[in-house]
Amino acid sequence: MPIEWRAEGRQLHLHNERISYVMKVLDRGTLAHLYFGSRLATGRDYGHFLRHSNMARLNEVLDPLPLELPTAGSGDFRVPMLTVRHADGSTVLDLAYREHEITPGKPHLDGLPSTYVDDGAEADTVEVCLVDGNSSLRVRLITTIYADRPVITRSMRVINEGPSEVKLNTAMSAVLDLPDREWHLLQLAGEWGRETHPVDAPLVRGTRGLRSQRGSSGHQQNPFLALHRPSTTEATGEAIGLSLLYSGNFLAEVEVDSADTVRARIGMDPETVRWRVAAGMDLQVPEAVLVWSDEGLGGVSDAYHRLYRQRLVTGAWRDKPRPVLFNSWEGVYFDFDEDTLVEMATAARDLGAELFVVDDGWFGQRDDDTSSLGDWTVDLRKLPSGLPDLVERVNDLGLDFGIWIEPEMVNPRSRLFENHPEWAVGYPGRPRTEIRNQFVLDMSNPEVVDYLERVIGSILSSAPIAYVKWDYNRVITEPYGASLPADRQNEFFHRYMLGVYDLYSRLTERFPEVLFESCASGGGRNDPGMLAFAPQAWISDVTDAVDRQRIQYGTSLVYPLVAMGAHVSAVPNHQTGRVTPLDTRAAVAFFGNLGYELDPRALDEAAAERVREQIAWYKQRRELIHGGRFHRLLSPFEGDGNEAAWMVVADERDRALVGWYRTLSVPLPGPGLLRLRGLDPDARYRVTLWPAADDALARANELERGGDELMRQGLFLDDEAWQSQLRGDFQARIFELTRVVPS
Ligand code: DGJ
Repeated sequence: MPIEWRAEGRQLHLHNERISYVMKVLDRGTLAHLYFGSRLATGRDYGHFLRHSNMARLNEVLDPLPLELPTAGSGDFRVPMLTVRHADGSTVLDLAYREHEITPGKPHLDGLPSTYVDDGAEADTVEVCLVDGNSSLRVRLITTIYADRPVITRSMRVINEGPSEVKLNTAMSAVLDLPDREWHLLQLAGEWGRETHPVDAPLVRGTRGLRSQRGSSGHQQNPFLALHRPSTTEATGEAIGLSLLYSGNFLAEVEVDSADTVRARIGMDPETVRWRVAAGMDLQVPEAVLVWSDEGLGGVSDAYHRLYRQRLVTGAWRDKPRPVLFNSWEGVYFDFDEDTLVEMATAARDLGAELFVVDDGWFGQRDDDTSSLGDWTVDLRKLPSGLPDLVERVNDLGLDFGIWIEPEMVNPRSRLFENHPEWAVGYPGRPRTEIRNQFVLDMSNPEVVDYLERVIGSILSSAPIAYVKWDYNRVITEPYGASLPADRQNEFFHRYMLGVYDLYSRLTERFPEVLFESCASGGGRNDPGMLAFAPQAWISDVTDAVDRQRIQYGTSLVYPLVAMGAHVSAVPNHQTGRVTPLDTRAAVAFFGNLGYELDPRALDEAAAERVREQIAWYKQRRELIHGGRFHRLLSPFEGDGNEAAWMVVADERDRALVGWYRTLSVPLPGPGLLRLRGLDPDARYRVTLWPAADDALARANELERGGDELMRQGLFLDDEAWQSQLRGDFQARIFELTRVVPS
């Protein structure tokens, strides 16, 4: 049994082959945290872990004991997991163990995204019930361990069994206490166009973290934090990840206290998300996913990649190869008619595309971004025969058809806003801030969710639409839900998210064959909560191949390649003005979910031929790219950032692809070597290069080489590269390794 209860020491030990997570009930009933890390022996008591440093005052003060569910007001003075205000105004909360229950499998969380199991044997769950004697507030702390993954999931349900209402002021998803501060904190920060850039620094006394209060997880931060030892690398050393399955306001922070112990916490942002739990009611908080690895940051990423693509993504697309798509946006923006689209689709089909996506501009009277959001009927000026006809023409070409929507938004210039101004978020009588000429619809109002299910449902049932890009292009200001009473306005942000998840669930259940891609002006809501409904995300509006290396590199800390929409676009790049070679753009986009976002009619014959070859190349390798183990080899955030490299290795270690990128050309680069990872040291691999070239670089590398030497010595990058076709800026090469079967 992977969860061991030792009645004598009142200890719960969750374990698998790789990790252990240990909790202990103290004499006073408090649930203490003993350990999270590499597997410990079972059948033993670990209560003595609490005795080091000044933690011996067990039953007196909780500070700085490591705790599973720290509250405020009962002797712990660090950042809490749960704080309340009782009906009488008091804030003291002292939760004591009442009982626990161990069950096979993993429970589903009502209304919220969660990881899951296909079979009860994949995981075991313990629910610990803790009760506050004075108030009859009960908490069920839910912890799951997967049998074959270094993963623990954590959430809680707060239940009010007393006669009066309780206000929850802080209700985080997970707290993790660690006994020393020799850690660095790594988070993903950014901005529009440069999402998920890692920030990494040693811990110091005090609190540090990232939060979103924008209504969505945001471009500026991601609901994730990692702690790693100072000596941890991509491939070695201890690292811990905390990732939150939530798409709204969150907080992910770490505190180092006066005793130099560490507390990490992650959950809904306590400043902007509060909740009233009426008598007999409860609140389920989102799920957090904790990963431990001694294989460095790469080990943490691998655990997230596998869990999220195998047991977070749901539905028909989980296990199917994702289609190569052509998206109309950067090709024609709002300026198209039916024939334009069919011509583009025809050209895309000739290049090997499988899916043609009509982005923004097909509905209402939308010639720019100033009108029509909310009016989800086809624009007959542009598409006079209607959507079903267009879909049929695209399908007749042998392509699937996809469409763009932005359901949560409304333009003031729209019929919907004229009819239902009260459905837009904002306080009646106060001006609403317009961002991108639009307002946000109040998803905390069930009427709005019902309406959107009806209109979006009728579009999706009007024609065989195979793909939906669900966009979200602004943040929330003037947060106020007109359908909520005054004393529930603090719940607005979370109720908004519950409404979004509800709409997503209804539509994904009704249209299980549709592939959803989430988007929020690029990566403004790229988080695991969205992944539960939309198996892929448009991770940035920036399609420039140089910027994309950084964005994809950072995103890969948590998110699998199959979930990263990555498009080849035209040059000069529309966001940066940079001109990069077509093959470099593809060599970056290959390590994601490949698409093209340009007007395929505008490609000259040579470029069209390259694209044809790129798509054919990728189709033969996409299952390896999406299913293999990803390794980050050279960081574009380190040194002068001039080079980046990564690789994917098949689980059988018989194939691998290495992507190497150099931004600026270097006159005499010297002998560069790129050490690989994850290969079979005893195997021999044939190395070939893409794009194919008869040059010095190809000649130096196109040999049969041992897995051992490739990992210890490496690929040759710069030897005689001055003779290579790789001269010039913005170069990329892909090295393909295929195991040679001895004859
Ligand atoms: C923002 C998205 O990120 C773009 O890809 C595009 O879909 C536009 N919105 C359309 O308005």
